[in-house]
Amino acid sequence: MKELNIFEATGFTSPNPLTLICTEKADGTTNLAPICFVSYLSFNPPMIGFATGKQSHTGERTRETGKVIISVPGKSLDQAVMSCGSSTGSSTAKAETYGIELVNVPDSTIKIPADTKLAFVADLKQVVDVGDHFLHICDIQKIYGDDSKEALFAWNGFGKAAPAQEK
Ligand SMILES: Cc1cc2nc3c(=O)[nH]c(=O)nc-3n(C[C@H](O)[C@H](O)[C@H](O)COP(=O)(O)O)c2cc1C
Repeated sequence: MKELNIFEATGFTSPNPLTLICTEKADGTTNLAPICFVSYLSFNPPMIGFATGKQSHTGERTRETGKVIISVPGKSLDQAVMSCGSSTGSSTAKAETYGIELVNVPDSTIKIPADTKLAFVADLKQVVDVGDHFLHICDIQKIYGDDSKEALFAWNGFGKAAPAQEK
């Protein structure tokens, strides 16, 4: 075995689970950011967590509104997901700029992409300061899924979005 840094390690765990985190901006529109630092945390009650860099608009809006939808993007969003990861919602209207069609979710003002395999509607419960990130620990309120969709995963660490099995 050889010694690795943490960036190299993410390549060894590829494909990594990939989410597109949806939050409400101050103007009421939905911001989208790809986030791989995500995990189930509890079955009972159902809980999920994700970590964002301290400058992330996604993290800021989650902490300000207390609301978030953690979605798993479908295959058609492969390029759009990477574009969402190279711009910030503080200065870019990502859905509009990258041509991502959004749809409503029951009882939420936050929208999700039409091509979504799985969506966790969640409320922020606790924030933990972890190094250069904030960990957002959330209570899951609702889970919606569409098993006709093919999920994207992150390959080469976080360098590429593609399905887990290329067909
Ligand atoms: C595949 C992929 C995975 C990513 N995972 C994370 C992550 O887990 N945490 C994070 O803070 N940023 C992650 N990023 C980077 C953010 O998506 C990026 O910083 C984005 O610009 C944040 O947008 P925002 O400021 O609108 O939140 C990832 C990017 C890509 C392409």
